[in-house]
Amino acid sequence: MKVLHSCHEAFAHAHHVRLEGQRLGFVPTMGALHEGHLALVRRSKEECDATAVSIFVNPTQFGPGEDYQQYPRTLEQDCQGLRDLGVDFVFVPTAQDLYPVGFSTYVHPPRVAEPLEGKFRPGHFRGVATVVLKLFHIIPATAAYFGRKDYQQLLVIRRMVEDLNVPIRIVDCPTVREADGLAMSSRNRYLSPQQRQAALCLWKALNAARERLASGEREGAALQRHMLDVLYDQGADRVDYAVVADPDTLEPLQEVDRTAIALIAAHVGKTRLIDNLLLEPSPPDEPN
Ligand code: PAF
Repeated sequence: MKVLHSCHEAFAHAHHVRLEGQRLGFVPTMGALHEGHLALVRRSKEECDATAVSIFVNPTQFGPGEDYQQYPRTLEQDCQGLRDLGVDFVFVPTAQDLYPVGFSTYVHPPRVAEPLEGKFRPGHFRGVATVVLKLFHIIPATAAYFGRKDYQQLLVIRRMVEDLNVPIRIVDCPTVREADGLAMSSRNRYLSPQQRQAALCLWKALNAARERLASGEREGAALQRHMLDVLYDQGADRVDYAVVADPDTLEPLQEVDRTAIALIAAHVGKTRLIDNLLLEPSPPDEPN
């Protein structure tokens, strides 16, 4: 497995793979890899002839006071895991490589970036969209793999790729969970054993919404209130949002009369966690 540091080398390598007519799968990451990332790599390996991974903790997607400095950096371990999976090359640029002196061009993210994360982390999706577009130029892959845990990010990237005619297929992959339901996240490493237990409140609240819906409650606001109750009752210290929304636009739904998505961002101690779950209303004539 090659570990490439310069944009030029990464482009040359990716370009070569494509010129040979091979399908190149790409998994962009910020490192601190866990099973969720590895599942993206496995999917890419199943579907493509070669797989590239990038590891870059992107400063432009962190706001002031967020965890850019503390974000776990475990490059050696990450590379070992990727090597074991048979990844072809890893791109590990520095911040100076991607944002050299004078850098001043950013992607204005699509409308779907505005609610939820967009409200609580202003500038976050501008940074994500910018770095992802840059990475897509450096690694002109056939397909790129993203986890559904970052659901809004997935919608932002899908829209950006469509709007800006980027010829890369975006593949969304299911959230990988621990045995007890906690969504895998690099930020789970911040949790103490007690907080790790409390962090389950997100998964419990999402399931509580699903159960309430199954028992006949279709009012979006009532489902949201129920999620908030469960979150605070089960260990959240602060909730940024707990909403039931349209899965394409992320507009809150007044009534869940079609597929919806429940999305949560909550703090446990100093750690901010996100999670989501698709909700299907049961047919009206079916007894619950
Ligand atoms: O999901 C992530 O890890 C990051 O937001 C991404 C897509 C690698 C961009 O920095």
